[in-house]
Amino acid sequence: MDRIRIVGGRPLEGVIPIGGAKNAALPLMIASLLTRETVTLHNVPRLSDVRSLMRILGNHGVDAAISGKRLGQAEDAGDTITLSARDIVDTTAPYELVSKMRASFWVVAPLLARMGEARVSLPGGCAIGTRPVDLLIMALEKLGAEIEIEGGYVVAKTKNGLRGGEIVFPKVTVGGTHTALMAATLADGTTVIDNAAQEPEVTDLADCLIKMGARITGAGTSRIVVEGVSRLGGAHHTVLPDRIETGTYAMAAAMTGGDVLLQGARADLLQSAFDVLARVGVEISENRDGVRIRRNGGGIAPVDVTTEPFPGFPTDLQAQFMALMTRADGTSHIRETIFENRFMHVQELARLGARIRLDGDTAVVEGARALKGAPVMATDLRASVSLVIGGLAAEGETMVNRVYHLDRGFEALEKKLVRCGAEIERISGER
Ligand code: UD1
Repeated sequence: MDRIRIVGGRPLEGVIPIGGAKNAALPLMIASLLTRETVTLHNVPRLSDVRSLMRILGNHGVDAAISGKRLGQAEDAGDTITLSARDIVDTTAPYELVSKMRASFWVVAPLLARMGEARVSLPGGCAIGTRPVDLLIMALEKLGAEIEIEGGYVVAKTKNGLRGGEIVFPKVTVGGTHTALMAATLADGTTVIDNAAQEPEVTDLADCLIKMGARITGAGTSRIVVEGVSRLGGAHHTVLPDRIETGTYAMAAAMTGGDVLLQGARADLLQSAFDVLARVGVEISENRDGVRIRRNGGGIAPVDVTTEPFPGFPTDLQAQFMALMTRADGTSHIRETIFENRFMHVQELARLGARIRLDGDTAVVEGARALKGAPVMATDLRASVSLVIGGLAAEGETMVNRVYHLDRGFEALEKKLVRCGAEIERISGER
């Protein structure tokens, strides 16, 4: 297994290109199952989750191709992927494939909407507490699906196709909203989705579905209305920039006292996190190339944060912010309200010398301690990158083990950091 070696203590300075959002690319790719025509996605990040999903879609009969680099194209430009689900040959998504990535469970919605049946293994993904799919199942049932759980599989069927319905989510769920949205586009009649997730990735999916011929209003608000159509066509769509990658490098620059331009980033996608960083003492400015993050000389003020659905502070930046707060001039409280048990990074940050105490859903971080490099273990996607951020600011050498988690969500991480002056390298495992 690969490891990442970091020698900390250097400020990050330079330009970091921000890729397309993983969490938008995945549902967009899945939406290609809704049509016989070709969906072309631009700015798709090069990540192992994207490759895994291509395998899963291929199993259903989707022809997927990644176009090579064109002459003159920037080295960091994302991939263009074409997906053609002309004939769906298999409506089963097997355990071996779905267990690797939770989002692949979402294929249940387009398969059911288009084929009237789907058999999809219950999902796997990051080990961040129990992550049920009861609300996704509830949404499909509201649209007339009959659902049973058989041998670890969700078996969904409709007799005469899906029909519009009223879905009220008792809790905001991104995956539930994606599922409801995709299923409703081909249902007979009107669907209202209440307490819908307002994440930018939901809006991006809706934008692409609209280009495919779907009739959707209200995406980006808590109430989405979908009028079903009988068929959808192809589309070209550019994936929006990754706000979690943006926030992660912003925290890394803040932590190391650096000055970076996050090229292609959009501040409006993570206003809450930038508001928090401004209170921490970071200078943030936006221009047409992206977002510039600077912390030159000043201290790091402790700030309390609670994770919330969009537009609140994202749970996917909680671990990275905790790393930053270990160097704050005082104590901060970080409350996680989205996922239980999303604190696995705490004991690993402690190995770098951080002082963090857990009190129920809140981490109490005592800042201002110098971190010291140590061997640490990556546990989930976002937790892993908090250890990289910690390592960049720590004295001496940090070795991050089990980095395959990082490859699921961060494209060319070491390369991007090296170009900004970090001392970081990947050490291949199998020797
Ligand atoms: C998505 C993101 C993930 C992010 C999360 C919250 C992708 C690929 N992943 O995950 O990075 O951390 O949103 O912003 O986009 N829940 C239920 N029942 C359900 C579904 C969810 O109880 O049927 C709960 C979850 O356990 C969690 C909360 O709802 O406590 C929110 O989860 P959800 O928004 O669905 O997360 P994902 O879509 O899986």
